[in-house]
Amino acid sequence: MSSLPVVRIVADLRSQVAAWRREGLRIGFVPTMGALHEGHLSLVRLARTRAERVVASVFVNPTQFGPNEDFDAYPRDEARDAALLAGAGCDLLFAPTVDEMYPAGASTTVTVAGVSEPLDGQARPGHFAGVATVVTKLLNQCAPDVAVFGEKDFQQLAVIRRLVRDLNLPVEILGGPTARAEDGLALSSRNAYLTDAERAVAPRLKAALDDVLGSLRAGGRVDVAEREAVAALLAAGFGPVDYVEARVPATLDRLGPGPVTGPVRVLAAARLGRTRLIDNIGD
Ligand code: PAF
Repeated sequence: MSSLPVVRIVADLRSQVAAWRREGLRIGFVPTMGALHEGHLSLVRLARTRAERVVASVFVNPTQFGPNEDFDAYPRDEARDAALLAGAGCDLLFAPTVDEMYPAGASTTVTVAGVSEPLDGQARPGHFAGVATVVTKLLNQCAPDVAVFGEKDFQQLAVIRRLVRDLNLPVEILGGPTARAEDGLALSSRNAYLTDAERAVAPRLKAALDDVLGSLRAGGRVDVAEREAVAALLAAGFGPVDYVEARVPATLDRLGPGPVTGPVRVLAAARLGRTRLIDNIGD
C-alpha cells in the first residue's frame, strides 16, 4: 500500500494547494488517466524538477472517448497507480468521480479550432473537445504553476498549449519526451491490449516514422514517403492505418510536397488487432 494522500473533491484539492502556496511552494501538475507506466512517471519526475510539490490526477475522462471506444475496458488500478506515483515523487493524488467532474447539468465544452481538426481530430470526432474541456477544468481546479504532458500525444499537447494561450490560463505547459521500450515501441497504457504476436509487430510503427523522417531529410517528397510508410504498415499487419503524416510541429499544418528544410513532426495512428496505436517523432 502507498501512503500517498488521495483527494476526490475539488474543494479538498484546492485547500491543500492553497496551504502549499501559503508556504511559498511551487506546484507542479501531471494529469493522467491512470494505468501508469514509466512514461507517466518520467513526467512526474520532470514536474518535480520545476516545483516543490507535485499533484497528479487519475481520471478516466468519459467525454474524450467515442461511443465505440474503450472507455469501459480502459485499465483501472488506483492502488497500483498511487504506489507508482508515490515512488516517483508525487505528493498528492487527485482522483475525482465522474459526478465530481461533471455535475448534473454541466453544459460547457471547450473546443480548440484548427489544431484539433486534422489527424486524430478526423479519426476520433469529439475527442479533443473532451480533452480540452477536462484539461481546462483540471487546470482551474489545481491551479498549478507548471503542468506536464507527454509528447507521445503530440497533437493533444499542441491543443493544450493553444487553449492555455487563448484562455490566458496562468500556467506553464511543459512537454515530456516519449518513453520507449528498448525496441522503440512508445510506452502506452493501451499496449496492455496487445497480444504477444502483435507486441512483436508493434515497433514497426516507430520504424515507419523513422523511415519517413529519414526520407524527408534525404530530400524525398512528403507524399511519397507517407504513402510508402502506410504500405509498409499494412504489409506488417497493421490496419486500418488512420494516418502517417509529416506536419509543421507548432501548428500541425500540412507541409508542401518537398523538399522539406524546416522543422517537421511525423505523426502516425494505426490499428493493430483491437489496439489503436499512435506515435510521433521529430528531429
Ligand atoms: O493524456 C491523457 O492521459 C489524457 O488525455 C488527459 C490529458 C489526462 C486528459 O484526460
